[in-house]
Amino acid sequence: MAVIPKILVFAGSVRSGAYSGRAADVAQKELAMQGAEVTRISLAEYPLPIMDEDLEKEKGVPENAQKLGRLIMAHDGLLIATPEYNGSIPPLLKNTIDWVSRVRRDGGRPVRPLAGKVVGLCSSSNGHFAGIRCIN
Ligand SMILES: Cc1cc2nc3c(=O)[nH]c(=O)nc-3n(C[C@H](O)[C@H](O)[C@H](O)COP(=O)(O)O)c2cc1C
Repeated sequence: MAVIPKILVFAGSVRSGAYSGRAADVAQKELAMQGAEVTRISLAEYPLPIMDEDLEKEKGVPENAQKLGRLIMAHDGLLIATPEYNGSIPPLLKNTIDWVSRVRRDGGRPVRPLAGKVVGLCSSSNGHFAGIRCIN
């Protein structure tokens, strides 16, 4: 029996009309056509404070990072479409990854949501480099 991979798709920009959002939409359709079970989210649904270890010590990992961590663990792989900002990863995406990397427990059970996760990256930009410096 064929195993249907579960793929979580999101973009590194939540701007209205974002190219990366459109790339994520295309990836969502393509992956579904290839037979994957696809979940498409927007990082706007998971607002997070700027990573700050004092805040983490005081209040722990924010609930939205925990939720995202759980969602990531429920999928076999991720597809991230992202622009580059100043030749690097946009702060929204970096901050999200940084917080999720701090999720170490789920209901008392030790977890590492990103460890060993298969991730596909695609970039989009109206600039000269098409976002490639963010994903290479
Ligand atoms: C702070 C900032 C830095 C940027 N730096 C780059 C860059 O280094 N290379 C590039 O190709 N485009 C750069 N851009 C242009 C973005 O790639 C462009 O605005 C893109 O459309 C943003 O992605 P989105 O459409 O998914 O929101 C930058 C934009 C911003 C706001």
